[in-house]
Amino acid sequence: MKKSFDTAIIGGGVNGTSIAFELAKKGRKVILLEKQQIAAESSRAAAGMLAAQAEIEQDGPLFQLALKSQKMFASLSQELLEYSGIDIEFVQKGMLKIAETEDIAHEVQQQVLFQRKWDHEIRWLDSHEIRELEPALSPTIAGGMYLPNDGHVHPEKLTQAFAKAALHFGAEIRENTEVLSFLYDQGKVKGLNTSNGIIHCDQVVIAVGAWANRLIKDLPVFPVKGECFSVKVNKPIINTTIFSDKRCYLVPKRNGEIYIGATMIENSFDKAVTPGGIASLIERAVKLVPEIRDATWERVWCGIRPQTNDGKPYIGEHPEYKGIFVATGHFRNGILLSPITGKLVADLLEGNTTELSAFRLDRHQPSVM
Ligand code: FAD
Ligand code: GLY
Repeated sequence: MKKSFDTAIIGGGVNGTSIAFELAKKGRKVILLEKQQIAAESSRAAAGMLAAQAEIEQDGPLFQLALKSQKMFASLSQELLEYSGIDIEFVQKGMLKIAETEDIAHEVQQQVLFQRKWDHEIRWLDSHEIRELEPALSPTIAGGMYLPNDGHVHPEKLTQAFAKAALHFGAEIRENTEVLSFLYDQGKVKGLNTSNGIIHCDQVVIAVGAWANRLIKDLPVFPVKGECFSVKVNKPIINTTIFSDKRCYLVPKRNGEIYIGATMIENSFDKAVTPGGIASLIERAVKLVPEIRDATWERVWCGIRPQTNDGKPYIGEHPEYKGIFVATGHFRNGILLSPITGKLVADLLEGNTTELSAFRLDRHQPSVM
């Protein structure tokens, strides 16, 4: 008898594995197909920040989704430890969104007023106060927004933990298996053609990050390359995440490594790390925290963010092809958004779409290849 699955998930990044975990937990018969290995792409390259307030500066459906997802990490880290045995290294030591000059200070102070509507502990620190909290910061810094409840995780461990917890609940995972096309019958999906044969299923979830329009023609998802480097320190020089702007942040990890990122190069799938990219990050990081100059060099890496035209992810069913669902386009916040994405897609497959109208696919007109 041919083997058939309720749901096949394409893509073993943080979103595909989170969806697999949530569906398997609901008792669904799930298979996840990954063309390389689990966490091979963006979900390995991320800094792991849960930076809802630093990354998103306006209220709206995406901001509210991000706040909700951010709050899920404390209990999720315990749940994933229980079911996978993997510690996702959730650290909640706060973040400083830096105003490097007096000109920018006013903008950041406006952000403090806006963000305090959702978290009263967020506050402005002036140049003196910010150095009391983080003495290694440059004395030239004008001040910053302090977000004491912000945190970060180890992105690759998070992805592996979702995958292992999905296996715990009976999911199947096939690595080195590329999905090539879909099998339909009367406008409804019936299965997938893969590099390792046919998979029969009733529903498909496409969670392939920046590669989404290779499976769904015309879906406007495009790559934004990001390069990073890290240094190691014997004793911590910073405790909080230092976020200057979207092109420079420093994240002190639990193992003594400080991740420093990241460049933003649009329309590039090229994963080469360039001296120019890393030089620009070093220059900015040393300006913020001069001691970085004397830290021990650790490594460089690069990843491809999945961006969309309007900055919002696509989470929803395909408007024409019943049974094909999409969860992609999480751009700079896929790690942060992964817990809520898993939960909402699992609900969506049971017919509940309440929180997802802003993320529907038919805000554009994609067609399946
Ligand atoms: P991916 O992780 O890219 O996974 C997609 C998977 O699909 C890949 O493994 C790929 O091999 C597979 N695939 C593709 N096509 C097929 C196919 N046809 N068949 C089978 N498999 C296929 N986000 C945060 O929240 N916080 C951060 O601090 C942060 N920092 C970042 C720093 C950098 C430098 C970068 C590049 C990104 C960062 N991000 C961050 C963004 C985050 O990494 C992404 O939004 C997230 O990882 C996207 O996850 P995904 O599962 O959607 O896609
Ligand atoms: N969220 C950090 C980045 O995408 O670089």
